[in-house]
Order: sequence, then C-alpha cells, then structure tokens
Amino acid sequence: MVESGAPSLECQGLTKRFGGLDAVRNVNLQVGAGERRAIIGPNGAGKTTLFNLISGETSATSGQVKIFGKDITHMPSHRRAHLGLGRTFQITNIFPTLTIIENLLVAAVGLKKMKFSMFKPLVGYRDLHERALEILASVGMAEKANESVKNLSHGEQRQIEITLVLITNPMLVLLDEPTAGLSPAESTMMTSIIKKFDPKITVLIIEHDMDVAYQVADQITVLHQGCVFVEGTQKEISNDPKVQEIYFGKEDRC
Ligand SMILES: Nc1ncnc2c1ncn2[C@@H]1O[C@H](COP(=O)(O)OP(=O)(O)O)[C@@H](O)[C@H]1O
Ligand SMILES: [Mg+2]
Repeated sequence: MVESGAPSLECQGLTKRFGGLDAVRNVNLQVGAGERRAIIGPNGAGKTTLFNLISGETSATSGQVKIFGKDITHMPSHRRAHLGLGRTFQITNIFPTLTIIENLLVAAVGLKKMKFSMFKPLVGYRDLHERALEILASVGMAEKANESVKNLSHGEQRQIEITLVLITNPMLVLLDEPTAGLSPAESTMMTSIIKKFDPKITVLIIEHDMDVAYQVADQITVLHQGCVFVEGTQKEISNDPKVQEIYFGKEDRC
C-alpha cells in the first residue's frame, strides 16, 4: 500500500542500459513530500531517461523505484498515474481540434475511470468542469477555455500541458524542460505558474535554465554520465567548481 509519511520518490541503484551505454547508472535519489527538486546536467546526462524510469515509459535494467513508499518498478505507467504521479506530455498527444476545456475534461475523465458516455456532452460533467476552469484560472488562461488548442501560441500550449497534469490531481509531478523554446517573458510566466503549485505537490523539474531551476527548487541534483554527480542547495551547486567543469567537458568523473 501507499505509506503516509514516506518520501514521495525513492530510487535505489536505478540503472537503464541501452546497448553498451548506461544512460542512467546506479542512481540513488530521495525526494521528500512537498519538495521542489531540480534535476540538471549536460545534454545526454540521463535526465529524461530518469524521468521515463520514474513514470514507467521505460523499464529499469536494475534497481528500484518507489513512490509514496510503494515499489512501482514493474508497474505500468497508467497505474503509476492512479497513485498520483503526473508528467507533462507534448501537446501533440492531445486533441488539437477540441477546445482547451474539452481536452482537460477528457484528461480528467480518462484518469478517473468514470463511466464515460460518448453521448453525454462533456459540459455535463459539472464538478470537473468547475475544477478545469479553476485550474485554467491558476495559469491565467480562463478566458481561453473555449478556444481550440490549435489556435494557441507555443507558450500557451506549454501552459496547457501543465493544466492537463494538474487536472489529474497529482501528488508528484515530473516536468521535463517546461521552459524549453519559450521567450523570456513566457519563461517568466511559466516559472511563476510552477511556483504557485499547491505546496502539497512534490515537483521534480528538469531545467536547462539555471535561473529557473534556482527559482523553483529547494534542492538541486546534478546528473552527469547517468550518475548523480552532486546534490545540494543552490548555493552549494553554484559554488561547486566541478559542476562548472562538467558543463565545459573538463570533469570526467562519475
Ligand atoms: N531509447 C534510447 N535508445 C538508445 N539510447 C538512448 C535512448 N534514450 C536515450 N538514449 C541515450 O541515453 C543517454 C541519455 O539520454 P537522455 O536521458 O535523453 O539525456 P538528457 O535528457 O539528460 O539530455 C544519451 O546518450 C542518449 O543518446
Ligand atoms: Mg532530456
């Protein structure tokens, strides 16, 4: 069963091998309830693979993943979602011709395993409809509820990806480079949206922009060549010369 008081996430000896390459190697990671953790590291460090192992898109070669104290290493991804794990997906996975609110309702109904009637208009799910509007308001997009997704700007689409996760009431959220490709203004907006998440939600964020990582996260984990290279507060990480070196390719220790 899910344990109360357990860390939101624990990885032990987690490894993923692709052919001869350990994309993730012997990773031990513990993230407490409500913590905001940034995962940083150079391209190819294994950050996205680590998220895929946590969410179940990729199966582990060895090691263990637990969320809320429950071993989920061999659990399919949809069951992990039912335990409260949410991650962003590219907007292309949703329905471009449906409106934003319709997409949110489809996401919510899908996860709840509610009896879903093809013939019942989506607006008939009144509680969910209100909740969807609340979430849209929390990202400043309530007035766009009835717009079709295909009419949104890139920045707005990234914000909708966030709302599609929040509508499932997750307790642990994985965000893979939520500011990638955004303008500075859109990136600032995205950062403030993430900072306003319910403090009960544990957040892991992969972020290439250090300013964003430092603003959002309490603790930073640096991955390098698939391994946890160093972990610490913003101050510890930004003062660590070895962290600078891995970004410039001088440090080769793992
Ligand atoms: N499906 C895959 N098959 C083979 N190699 C992969 C696969 N996914 C990722 N890799 C490799 O694993 C390493 C880590 O990739 P990734 O997790 O995407 O890194 P990051 O997100 O830190 O940039 C890279 O060398 C990448 O080429
Ligand atoms: Mg990546």
